[in-house]
Amino acid sequence: MTRYGFIGTGSMGEMLISQFTRTGCIAPAAISASSKSGTSALAVAKKTGITAKNENRSVAANSDVLFLCVKPLEVQGVIREIRSDLKPDILLISIAACVSLEDLAAWTGSNARCVRIIPSVTALQNSGVSLVVWGRNVHPSDKILVLDLFNRIGTAVETDEESLEVCTNLTSCGPALIAAMMSEFGSAVVRSGTIRP
Ligand SMILES: NC(=O)c1ccc[n+]([C@@H]2O[C@H](COP(=O)([O-])OP(=O)(O)OC[C@H]3O[C@@H](n4cnc5c(N)ncnc54)[C@H](OP(=O)(O)O)[C@@H]3O)[C@@H](O)[C@H]2O)c1
Repeated sequence: MTRYGFIGTGSMGEMLISQFTRTGCIAPAAISASSKSGTSALAVAKKTGITAKNENRSVAANSDVLFLCVKPLEVQGVIREIRSDLKPDILLISIAACVSLEDLAAWTGSNARCVRIIPSVTALQNSGVSLVVWGRNVHPSDKILVLDLFNRIGTAVETDEESLEVCTNLTSCGPALIAAMMSEFGSAVVRSGTIRP
């Protein structure tokens, strides 16, 4: 059984775990997760049936596929902490904005197969786009696994790092902007007294 780890169970980590388990892509028993305080990991475990661990190192050591779901400035520190625990054939998936594949490769200091993914909160509704950028060493089977996971909770779109920022503006910020505008239109109607909430 492929074992999955999640380091970071904030908005995005929780969303991915919830969606992967809810859609049946990954069995809860195959997932372990950790967070800085431990509190959010425990809450996600209670909600989804995954295993919460107290230590990032324990999650890393038990994972064949490891998702890094921490803020960009935390990524290097977390990799430094877990580097010696990573399995030699680990598939490392970072969802952090602004952390390049070159950085990930340098910080892991190995031939770890790395992938960058920029998911969108719209995956919570099984829709929207997850952007995928492959690292140099990924295997064809890694691509099948990753595309299958993210196509189950939306649409996975392969791109390159040069295009990632502009694509992110379209797929993540775009839906948020439209949602904010729609919300404001609704509030304006309520303010006008035409309709009550
Ligand atoms: N939000 C979005 O729409 C979005 C979209 C695409 C990509 N991203 C990327 O997703 C990543 C996470 O964003 P988010 O919005 O989910 O952030 P968030 O809600 O602040 O969650 C961050 C998580 O990281 C954990 N954490 C921090 N330092 C840690 C450490 N040293 N060891 C283990 N866990 C640690 C936190 O633990 P605690 O729970 O204990 O505090 C928390 O669970 C970011 O890199 C961001 O660029 C976000």
